[in-house]
Amino acid sequence: MQKRVEEILKKVPYPGFPKSIEDYGFVRRVELGPEGIQIVLEIPSTSEQVAGQLRLEIGKRLEAAGIALEYLEIRQPPKPRQTSSDGRNALPNVANFVMVSSGKGGVGKSTTTVNLALALAQQGKRVGLLDTDIYGPNIPRMMGIEGVQPVFLGNKIKPIPGHGLKVMSMGSLIAPDASLIWKGAMVTQAIEQMLEDIQWGELDVLIFDMPPGTGDAQLALAQNLPITAGVCVTTPQKIALDDTIRALDMFKQLHIPIAGIVENMSGFICPETGREYPIFGKGTTPALAERYATQVLAEIPLEPAVREGGDMGMPILTLAPECETSRRYLQAAERLWEAMQAVNGQGGVDNSAIQPTIF
Ligand SMILES: Nc1ncnc2c1ncn2[C@@H]1O[C@H](COP(=O)(O)OP(=O)(O)OP(=O)(O)O)[C@@H](O)[C@H]1O
Ligand SMILES: [Mg+2]
Repeated sequence: MQKRVEEILKKVPYPGFPKSIEDYGFVRRVELGPEGIQIVLEIPSTSEQVAGQLRLEIGKRLEAAGIALEYLEIRQPPKPRQTSSDGRNALPNVANFVMVSSGKGGVGKSTTTVNLALALAQQGKRVGLLDTDIYGPNIPRMMGIEGVQPVFLGNKIKPIPGHGLKVMSMGSLIAPDASLIWKGAMVTQAIEQMLEDIQWGELDVLIFDMPPGTGDAQLALAQNLPITAGVCVTTPQKIALDDTIRALDMFKQLHIPIAGIVENMSGFICPETGREYPIFGKGTTPALAERYATQVLAEIPLEPAVREGGDMGMPILTLAPECETSRRYLQAAERLWEAMQAVNGQGGVDNSAIQPTIF
């Protein structure tokens, strides 16, 4: 009987891997008890899903062979400890989380996120970049990894390396032209799934590119992670002001410390003369920063090289790391890092009190 069970277990694959649980040495004990067979497995995964799949598979095979099961014990390592004391932290191996948001679309969130991430990496940090814009993910193109298939490790996904960052995007997980109509609950679910499935390893900072607006994606992240810093991206137009205020209010409601505002498309630097022209106006951002007791992280000019870099998959920080705009991104990253250190110095972030709110 024992031998028969061992033969059966030899054929049970470890979910997501090519070999069986027996081949990997996960079978600890097989004994005949008073009411049937007793099995003890010890697996390296903490996932309940993996254990559940094994339970189902083994049960099915024993039943087919007409063997009674007394018990199946699956030993698993303890789940990693959560770093924030009260709130939730779905990624305890990541030291800091940055959410880049704006109330309005097309103001340069993705551009800002990519360049801030690259600046932090250039300053020696281990940086991950997650594109949560499931409606219009464009990080793959901006990072030059469009069409690169992610590597799966069992049921985990390895982030894609790009310009020294670890990158993942919904755009890398779905067909490129799949037209997506996401309902709120699906957005929340997709984000929670991404947090669970992507294997980031240890990071100093994970930076999130957000979809425009102040909705489900932002709430889902804030409920599952202690976000260390919120960065608001805006343009100096007066008409963008209301949207920017909405984004800043959202950070406050989600208990996300505001690290600062990036004023993007702030003037145009003429490539011929080097003179700066305030095309979209100027001066609205410092007043707003003061009102929210925060700082202007950078004024990033409207510059053809920024757009070209994004389109080519070579962000300006990799294309021209010495230019004025890159220098401003680097300075913004320094300020952002300091702001996060200040938050951590005061005991970090407690996200336990965040309630679903309509913004
Ligand atoms: N400072 C800049 N100078 C020149 N072009 C820029 C600048 N910032 C952004 N762009 C260009 O503007 C367009 C919109 O930028 P981006 O995609 O970063 O905005 P977004 O806020 O992420 O948009 P969405 O709301 O659609 O996610 C892109 O083509 C980008 O290359
Ligand atoms: Mg974007």
